[in-house]
This record gives sequence, structure tokens and C-alpha cells, in this order.
Amino acid sequence: MKLPRLVGHRGAAAHAPENTLAGIRAARDFGLDWVEFDSQLTGDGVPVLMHDDTLQRTTGDPRKIAEVPAAEVIQLDAGSWFDGRFSLERVPTLEAAATLLEELDLRVNVEIKPSPGLARETGIATVSLLKRLWSPTRPLPLFSCFQAEALEEARRLWPEAPRGYLMRSLAADWRETATRLECVSIHLWHPGIRPDQAKSIKAAGYQLAAYTVNEPARAARLLEIGLDCLISDDPPALAPICGESAAA
Ligand code: G3P
Ligand code: MG
Repeated sequence: MKLPRLVGHRGAAAHAPENTLAGIRAARDFGLDWVEFDSQLTGDGVPVLMHDDTLQRTTGDPRKIAEVPAAEVIQLDAGSWFDGRFSLERVPTLEAAATLLEELDLRVNVEIKPSPGLARETGIATVSLLKRLWSPTRPLPLFSCFQAEALEEARRLWPEAPRGYLMRSLAADWRETATRLECVSIHLWHPGIRPDQAKSIKAAGYQLAAYTVNEPARAARLLEIGLDCLISDDPPALAPICGESAAA
């Protein structure tokens, strides 16, 4: 598995509502080959695309996602908060997103995004669902997570699907954890990445991704210090730097 230079964050979050089917389509329309999105469980254990552990910000419903059944979550308008043009967007199930990825021939970094205390459950549900419906001819999804327990479940359930260890800043024990989880990549919050850290990670044989990079000058600097992959809300802004298509 080789990461691309540019991955659309939560779809293409500066251009379409995050974690929606419209966002995934927008990434494809920009010419990207990869998107990242967040998989979180509803109250009855169905993986859907949602970043926050409450539904408030992107749907206006004040409840916690872990307290609402899927039948209700998938009815919620996940587009109007972003722009009235997207009022028909609903919270997509992971299954619907996977179907769209196949239709668009798009690769994916699925971030396992547990509500508090649900790391293993979210890892198990997300990975099992995708394993069950993934076409054998398609390149495998890359699973990433801030919580090692979820990646442990990913490794146990679908060892062939690559894993990325996601951290805000590089943890002291990153090598041990990444080795134990058999990760292929390290994903870090971009403002904290130091050139010496990038060098050590690369020297240890991992691919290195940074989130969320939206400024061209910062993107250029990150590529200069050895980053392989930039996860961006604004792919067209970075496409000239990354040398990848992001046609409007
Ligand atoms: O996967 C990279 C990035 O999405 C991690 O942070 O909070 O945007 O999901 P967040
Ligand atoms: Mg994410």
C-alpha cells in the first residue's frame, strides 16, 4: 500500500459537508484517488460517517450519537449547516459510503472514530462490515485510529488490510505501538511535526501522513521534510504543490 500525496479530509470538507456522500463525490470530482472519513457507531451499533460524538454541529440534533438508533441518525440533515445547497444530504451509513467508493473507484482511509469508551466496539463493527462487503478485486481500505485498541481489533479481524497509527503528536512509545499493531503508516497533526521526527519515522520504514493541511506554503514545507501524504479539506488548493489532479 502506497499512500498518495493528497487525501481528501472527511471527503473534501472545505467544499462539501464533511462525512457525507456529497463530500466523497466532491473529492472524486477534484480528481483525487483517496478520501479519509470517520466511522462512528450509532446507539444500536451501526457504523455511520460522523466526526463528533454529538450530532449537534453537523445536524443540529443535540443528542449524543451513541444514544440515537441508526434509523433516526440516517434521517438527519447533514448538509444544511454547511450550505443550503446540500439540504438533501443525510448522515450516510458506512455501508452506503463503501458502495459509493466502489462506484467511483476511490480508495479510502477509514478513520475509526469511537465515542468515549467504545474503541473496541467501533473497531470491530467498522472493520467487520467492510471486510464482509469489500469486493475481492478492490484495493483494501487503510484503517487508522487514535486508539490502539481499535487497531488491535482491525489487525485481528482483517490483518491484510493496512493500518495507520494516528496521533496528535508523536508519542514516546510510537515505535513499540506501531510495531505491535503492524502499521504501515504514521499519521500526525501537522503543526507539531518536527523535521527530526519525520526523519526517524521514515528511517524506521513507515509512510508518514499529516492532517489537516490546507495552506500551500505549509504543504510545501511538509513535503520538503519528507511527508508522504497530506490529508486536506481543500484539495484544489494543494494540488499544484502535490502534483496531483484536483480539477475543479
Ligand atoms: O485522519 C486524520 C484526521 O481526520 C484526524 O483527525 O479529528 O479530523 O478526525 P480528525
Ligand atoms: Mg478523521
